[in-house]
Amino acid sequence: MTTSSSTESLARRTLLRFEGALNKIFGNDLNPFYHLGALGFFFFWVVTVSGLYIYVFYDTGVEDAFASVEYLTHEQRYLGGIMRSLHRYASDALVVVMLLHLLREFILGRYRGARWFAWFTGVPLIWLLLAAGINGYWMVWDKLAQYSAVTIIEWFDWLPIFSVPMAGYFISAETLDNRFFTLMSFFHVTVPLFILFLFWVHIMRISYPVVNPKRGLALGMLLAMLVLSLVSPALSQGPADLGIEPGSVGVDWFYLFVSPLLDKWSAGQVWALVGGITLLLGVLPWLPHRFRQIPIAEVSLKNCNGCRRCVADCPYEAVVMRPRSDGLHFAEEAVVTPDRCVSCGICAGACPSSTPFRSEADYVSGIEMPSLPMHGLRAAMTADLAKLQGDVRVMVFGCDNAADIGKLRSAGVAVMSLPCTAMLPPSFIEYALHERQVDGVFITGCRESDCYHRMGGVWTAQRLAREREPRLRGRVELGRIRQYWASSADFSGLASELESFRASLRNGRLT
Ligand code: HEM
Ligand code: SF4
Ligand code: SF4
Repeated sequence: MTTSSSTESLARRTLLRFEGALNKIFGNDLNPFYHLGALGFFFFWVVTVSGLYIYVFYDTGVEDAFASVEYLTHEQRYLGGIMRSLHRYASDALVVVMLLHLLREFILGRYRGARWFAWFTGVPLIWLLLAAGINGYWMVWDKLAQYSAVTIIEWFDWLPIFSVPMAGYFISAETLDNRFFTLMSFFHVTVPLFILFLFWVHIMRISYPVVNPKRGLALGMLLAMLVLSLVSPALSQGPADLGIEPGSVGVDWFYLFVSPLLDKWSAGQVWALVGGITLLLGVLPWLPHRFRQIPIAEVSLKNCNGCRRCVADCPYEAVVMRPRSDGLHFAEEAVVTPDRCVSCGICAGACPSSTPFRSEADYVSGIEMPSLPMHGLRAAMTADLAKLQGDVRVMVFGCDNAADIGKLRSAGVAVMSLPCTAMLPPSFIEYALHERQVDGVFITGCRESDCYHRMGGVWTAQRLAREREPRLRGRVELGRIRQYWASSADFSGLASELESFRASLRNGRLT
């Protein structure tokens, strides 16, 4: 599974380099690019809490709305004013992290095949968030609100959906009555509630979704927004007056870019742009590309004892248990939901019957990848190990989505790349080290906190630390195993780590 075009791989390389630099500053754990979805949730909650405070003091009315926001901003500068600023800056940050998250998932190609669902349900989130933000700006009813409301209402009037043009309500303060503000407040509560519901749908097919950023990252972001709120508080731009053109106003480009665009383009052109972007994003997962998914996981009931490890480890909610259907004395059996499986192989790495210590040559595991059966991997590994030469022989296991371990192959080094490192059952490490077939086993895969298949890196580390089933057995010497996590941008670091591992094995033997 590789990226499809050279432009995409250039984008991917650039992204990896940039994220590598961020890792040096923040550490992988706090790299904001690894937590963009979770940051989206965090900003949403900041917007909600600050919004609830503002709502208590907000008055719905042509005259009252502006006055109530002014009161909050100036009379309660260090509480209401800060809350208003936080509400604005967290909303802006929400758009920024959403766009970066979209771009990142696109560059990494994590929207194709069975992964279409999160992508597709993300598209309406974009417009709903923008609608909620624009609606929020109107509630202030200052000159910016007037400018935005009039341009957008005229834009909607272009559509043949209203029998009477809505712009008629915006001729004077008399035509625009208080009901407009009641309606705005109603929308400003119901649209975010719907967004929250869509957030839930968005991550429905993801196991263990990360919806809370690490504490340090969340506190850092909150602090940055508080400082910004003090240094540059959110202010209104003078009361709206429908009798006078609002003149030049400062625009929040994250939410209100449509209005300046409508000054330059016709309503039809802007609708065509919005419709075109939506359509393109919506169909993107199904556009032709060179990405080919290997056949999905398959259960062999004869070899399944219903232990549920595959359910626990699948990062995409693609395995479920159901009552036993074959009369064997186990209570349950595993079943793969075909349209959710992304063929990562992690379930096969979790299954106890994947162990290479089984005696049959063509053994079948309880769950495995039809194109990469465990008996085939064992045969390939054994053949490779038999060819190794030299004083220090090492087996390297890696991941197709990370650094290319093929380039590490040498007389003393055998390699095996898998769809995800967590497809490797720890028993394969024991098997390789068994009776000194090799002197050491080197495990690599995507950078820490950035597994292409979300949980693969964590599961592998936990299995090797003997914290998660299937655990590495106690008798294996930990000094003969090394883990080093590296993306395709970190190849030189990976190669030198392997050399250092080999040197330590060599020295270990001499002492
Ligand atoms: C503010 C809005 C959004 C929030 C808060 C959000 C949040 C999240 C979260 C928490 C995850 C799970 C991350 C994980 O644990 O691995 C996720 C996954 C994902 N999101 Fe979003 N998202 C938003 C908007 C979008 C948009 C607009 C798109 C693209 C159109 C998108 C595409 C995806 C994709 C493709 C995944 C799945 C990646 C995978 O399969 O591993 N999201 N999102
Ligand atoms: S290969 Fe296994 S772990 Fe990966 S998505 Fe499919 S069922 Fe889940
Ligand atoms: S891990 Fe293997 S044995 Fe356990 S339930 Fe899944 S398929 Fe069955």
